[in-house]
Amino acid sequence: MGNWVKSSWAKFRGFLGGRNSPAKKMAVTVAFLGFFAVVTLVAQRASRVLLTSSGKFTAAQRAEGEQLFSDKVRPTLKRKCGKCHGEDDSRSGLRVDSRDALLCGGHRGPAITPGQPDHSLLILAVLQTGDLKMPRRGKLSPEEIQALSDWIKDGAPWPQTSTLGWKDKFAKVVDCIL
Ligand code: HEC
Repeated sequence: MGNWVKSSWAKFRGFLGGRNSPAKKMAVTVAFLGFFAVVTLVAQRASRVLLTSSGKFTAAQRAEGEQLFSDKVRPTLKRKCGKCHGEDDSRSGLRVDSRDALLCGGHRGPAITPGQPDHSLLILAVLQTGDLKMPRRGKLSPEEIQALSDWIKDGAPWPQTSTLGWKDKFAKVVDCIL
């Protein structure tokens, strides 16, 4: 084993050539760019879950948002979206059963941007004005869409997850990154 490692290392050194060889410079550049790309990607995805910008919203907004959540948003997400975006199935990588899952989003990116319904993929999807039309084979009522939109405008509060400890939070971030 030791010999194998040594001989592979020697071969690799041979391949790179001497000091300042073009191959060596290339290898260092590629390694650096790769590292940079991975760090950027991880930071970007982790920030979706960590930077929830809840500080921007007033207590009144939070109260209104929580009311909307329990009266309309949660039932709608569960009934109209949960079958394809829940525990059993997560089409396009998206789950709608927690705030962090929505912030993390699916293959296209975050599903919601708290405070900005117009920039939230979920709203564009239920408005059905673009290519993405949700729910599949159906359309939400104008009241349901309005409730989702107002809830996001109020910061998209999700009462149960606000009590998550740092360990669960960390697990969610790792989930989002992977
Ligand atoms: C019958 C299954 C089904 C239902 C119900 C459904 N979806 Fe989807 N959803 C899909 C599929 C399949 C895709 C992937 C579509 C694609 O990539 O073109 C998707 C993709 C999405 C995406 C884009 C995710 C991403 O990042 O790629 C969003 C946002 C979304 N759905 C929101 C919703 C919402 C909100 C509801 C409920 C109002 C809902 N969906 C109901 C099947 C469903």
